[in-house]
Amino acid sequence: MDDNRHTKIKFFSGEEVPLEMHRARMVQRINLLPIGERLKAINGAGYNTFLLANREVFLDMLTDSGVNAMSEMQYAAMMMADDSYAGSETFFRLSAVLGEVFGTKYFLPAHQGRACENIIANTFVRPGSFTIMNYHFTTTKAHIVRLGGSVIEVACDEALRVESNCLFKGNFDMDKLEAAVKEVGIGNVAFVRIEAGTNLIGGQPVSLSNMVEVSNFCRERGIPLIFDASLLADNLFFIKTREADYANWPLVDIVRKMASLMDIIYFSGRKLGCARGGGIVTSSDEYFNRMRPLIPLYEGFLTYGGMSVREMEAMAVGIGETLDMHVISQTPLFVNALGELLSEKSIPLVRPFGGLGCHIDASRFVSHIPQEQYPAGALAAAIYLIGGIRGMERGTLSEQRNQDGSEHLSAMELVRLAVPKRVFTLSHMKFVADRIGWLHGNRDLIGGLEFDEEPDTLRFFLGRLRPIGDWPNRLANEFITHMESGM
Ligand code: F0G
Repeated sequence: MDDNRHTKIKFFSGEEVPLEMHRARMVQRINLLPIGERLKAINGAGYNTFLLANREVFLDMLTDSGVNAMSEMQYAAMMMADDSYAGSETFFRLSAVLGEVFGTKYFLPAHQGRACENIIANTFVRPGSFTIMNYHFTTTKAHIVRLGGSVIEVACDEALRVESNCLFKGNFDMDKLEAAVKEVGIGNVAFVRIEAGTNLIGGQPVSLSNMVEVSNFCRERGIPLIFDASLLADNLFFIKTREADYANWPLVDIVRKMASLMDIIYFSGRKLGCARGGGIVTSSDEYFNRMRPLIPLYEGFLTYGGMSVREMEAMAVGIGETLDMHVISQTPLFVNALGELLSEKSIPLVRPFGGLGCHIDASRFVSHIPQEQYPAGALAAAIYLIGGIRGMERGTLSEQRNQDGSEHLSAMELVRLAVPKRVFTLSHMKFVADRIGWLHGNRDLIGGLEFDEEPDTLRFFLGRLRPIGDWPNRLANEFITHMESGM
């Protein structure tokens, strides 16, 4: 099959349009509340977009996790699920698909990505040990730190440059990796972790050639190499379209090659496979035997791991569909379209555009708000207020305080507008650009936030904040003077 067929369809006008390679056959109604109600809603949510009810949201761009559209084949497969506590056929079907896609021997099911991280951290992390990775993800780091371990990040310098021409900003800097191992000593390295589609720096990919280098480095030194494949689909698209050496490789061969470099692969099935669940695969007898007893303890019996068998069936089909360029191109193409539309309105964005979503650079959008007042959190609240659009803060709020209680200022202050797979249309993207364009023109009205209630761990999920000053009222009033309907 020609993986690149989708790129051959052109518009006579020359316009670049992210053409949908599917049609919608089931839809969900969404509502846009007037701004007065949105103001009440964001107040009630403590200015934290995680705490909004979906009925208060028009375009839910919080995440692509568990909210991607599923294919008809996935729904059909759900009807065949085999419900049994132990030994269900569903487990064997999913295991077989994972074995085929990754070429691995064993599969351990877990209820989602962070559950896999819990199992892996419990197996490898000891107090005082170090895990080295291109960049952390919130839940990954929380599990490691909880067990007394530390995270060292060794992504290339371009990773943290908001605007860059680097096509693989998720790549490891091999010199930094070597220096880190030397500094802490091989014996203190719990594992090295590669995160595909590096989430917190803007959904940025890792090249396959960089994965080869990291793998060779780890194998020479006997360090376990763990691959977080949650964002594999986007990363795969970028390898195929940006890494010349692999442009003609079938997707399945790219995945197999990638998998052969790793000791353990885990994923959030809420992202990879467009269902809800997770899993760990490996070919290592030793690692499998060390992790296996933890599955019944934390997750559920070995053949369901806390997942519904219906979701497992959908995941099996969804992971197979990850090898279809028509499927995996949709998010990157829509992210690119939204990025272009926002750029026309001079919105500062992470560049190059990655997978997962568009990432607005809050440190430039609201440069008048100091980092201690959570500029990205304030911008996310303001975007909801003026458009009913729910994004996610990915900045200082998403960090954990230092042990002495001081703020750990984030390297980047981003608002992520996730683009779940096959959910939104181009007119939705135009609406987003229109509202955020207006907000940019009125950005001086946006003020900072401070905590009302601050949880100790993963505070961004449940923390409640309040505006510093009455900026939300003033912003809402300005919106109404420009847009009489308040919608
Ligand atoms: N690893 C990565 C790279 C992720 O993006 C996520 C989740 C996880 C692990 C944890 O998986 O949610 O199934 O427990 N990312 C979601 C997001 C939450 O919105 O980006 P999970």
